[in-house]
Amino acid sequence: MSSALKSAEQSIAPANNLDAFWMPFTANRQFKSRPRLLVGAKDMHYRNAEGDEILDATAGLWCVNAGHSRPKIVEAVQKQIAELDYAPAFQMGHPKAFELAARVAAMMPGNLDRIFFTNSGSESVDTALKVAIAYHRARGEGTRTRLIGRERGYHGVGFGGISVGGIVKNRMFFGSLLNGVDHLPHTHDREKQAYSRGCPEWGAHLADELERIVTLHDASTIAAVIVEPVAGSTGVLMPPKGYLEKLRAICDKHGILLIFDEVITGFGRLGAPTATEYFGVTPDIVTMAKGLTNGVIPMGCVAFDSKIYDAFMDGPENVIELFHGYTYSGHPMAAAAGLATLDTYKEEGLFERAAELAPYWEEAVHALKGEPHVIDLRNLGLIGAIELESIPGKPTARAFDAFLKAYEKGLLIRTTGDIIALSPPLIISKAQIDQVFETLRGVLRAVD
Ligand SMILES: Cc1ncc(COP(=O)(O)O)c(C=O)c1O
Repeated sequence: MSSALKSAEQSIAPANNLDAFWMPFTANRQFKSRPRLLVGAKDMHYRNAEGDEILDATAGLWCVNAGHSRPKIVEAVQKQIAELDYAPAFQMGHPKAFELAARVAAMMPGNLDRIFFTNSGSESVDTALKVAIAYHRARGEGTRTRLIGRERGYHGVGFGGISVGGIVKNRMFFGSLLNGVDHLPHTHDREKQAYSRGCPEWGAHLADELERIVTLHDASTIAAVIVEPVAGSTGVLMPPKGYLEKLRAICDKHGILLIFDEVITGFGRLGAPTATEYFGVTPDIVTMAKGLTNGVIPMGCVAFDSKIYDAFMDGPENVIELFHGYTYSGHPMAAAAGLATLDTYKEEGLFERAAELAPYWEEAVHALKGEPHVIDLRNLGLIGAIELESIPGKPTARAFDAFLKAYEKGLLIRTTGDIIALSPPLIISKAQIDQVFETLRGVLRAVD
């Protein structure tokens, strides 16, 4: 077939030709044998290709915090594309990127008021790690290049992020990763923490492991420590009470930058603008994405303490200070979506709403105690986790079966390992919370 004919044929290829798209973090063959195609979304629901309504208990992928297709955001994006479609990100600017940066800065506690735009959580993490190393160098401490992450951490999929991350499957296939990385132990121990409501009492002492790492490598070689305040992708692990405070104190003692990866906790998930504010522990750098634009247009950002920005602001004024950035940093469409998203959060009081709903949510999560296969339940803000006992020799199979069964019953959940992770849009009603958990109760009773 001629290439012209082939491309004509491809352009009219039926929507059910699923071969070409290599799907991310997906069991491709299973999906393509029984596709789950979403074709519409409004508020708390998706609509699939079969016309079924699917209740969204995961805010898409932890990003659609204000619910789907919200009018203000849709309108802002439609208007923006007709007005200014793209503006160069380097040596040029456009007003909305500055406005959005100022709005995010105003939302952040402490001096976290210098905002760098990226296009995803992974890029936010790589930006944060690079700037942490460059900051020490700019201050004449160029030996501080080591990065400390944590077991069971998820920081996206760039080489920086998987190097400091602690999920074996995300690391083992991809070579030797970054040099000079060490890991704190993860904070989860089911024997001591199972069925904790909110943050577990046990485990703050695990932060002291940072002292051991400092003793091993010497503080003069360590640039930064990065953790998720609440670890999401490895099964929703809440920080033990006092743990983050201890990390902060040890970092301060040794001149190490503390980075909070708030890609999932930023923008209201815990019932506060950020986990930084919720826990009252202020790091030097915060990475965000997802809820920044309600997932509508890809965008992430990094909030830096102004001391970090200031460290770069010397030398001749016409010289670029930081050799880092993306073609789409602060993209006009994303900036417009971000501004309308922040307006929506504010006008509808969604962060406060999440805080108000959190106790009801907690009761609903813990009411699943005693259901088949359940070995732990966890909650914080509008986050929930249901840990299932794995089928011997078949890790992940039971939770994946639960995912499929829930979808058949019109409920979208997410699973990681044998853990069901829940993070609904912050507009969820109490009746919809009941629906989520009643559906799950049925699913748990139905899975093998
Ligand atoms: C804590 C954390 N960091 C980074 C990322 C990566 O974000 P993205 O998929 O936008 O690159 C995620 C994604 O879920 C995340 O949960």
